[in-house]
Amino acid sequence: MKLLRDKVISDGIVLNNQVLKVDSFLNHQMDPVLMQEMGKEFARLFAEQGVTRVLTIESSGIAPAIMTALELGVPLIFARKQKSLTLREDIFTEKVYSFTKQETNEVTVSKKFIHATDRVLIIDDFLANGEAAFGLARIVEQAGASVAGIGIVIEKAFQPGGKNLIEAGYRLKSLVRIAGLEDGQVQFVEVDEA
Ligand code: G4P
Repeated sequence: MKLLRDKVISDGIVLNNQVLKVDSFLNHQMDPVLMQEMGKEFARLFAEQGVTRVLTIESSGIAPAIMTALELGVPLIFARKQKSLTLREDIFTEKVYSFTKQETNEVTVSKKFIHATDRVLIIDDFLANGEAAFGLARIVEQAGASVAGIGIVIEKAFQPGGKNLIEAGYRLKSLVRIAGLEDGQVQFVEVDEA
């Protein structure tokens, strides 16, 4: 997606060979026009998949996911990382380990919001090792529902998440794919003029 790639080039900061800082438009301050365009692009990419719900994980996945859900005309659910005071029973739970943050989160979704008949589109901001996406997919599968696809804003293609998700049979679409972050520069996997 050209608009997003341009934004990564102009506003992204390469912190080191592993981490790209995008807190001026995605992870802290958010660019609503860009979010809306990303929602349209995800809706276009998954238009044929019969999506009935969008699922993400708090917090940075919520903005692109809500725009996607708006475009598709379906609800958005976000998995919680903190236990909710009111969410006591009837929850799906999965452990998600973050290599980047070196911590394990127990993520939860109420059983009220995903049903066996659902086709769930998973959306997240970053794909690194795929732990969050696999955790969300396991929640969908716990519900007896099917994963309609996985949409990622920024895939770090030099980490194994994308390859592992495709090998596991998921339909993965990433808006930009980063080949490497060497020498303070963002290298993209391919030029996508969409
Ligand atoms: P994985 O799910 O693909 O295995 O990724 P990993 O555990 O390594 O990532 C954990 C957190 O770090 C996620 O945010 C993810 O979005 C973020 N992250 C991973 N790589 C990068 C990067 O290069 N740049 C930035 N800015 N973030 C990265 P999170 O813990 O869910 O935080 P948030 O959604 O509340 O912001």
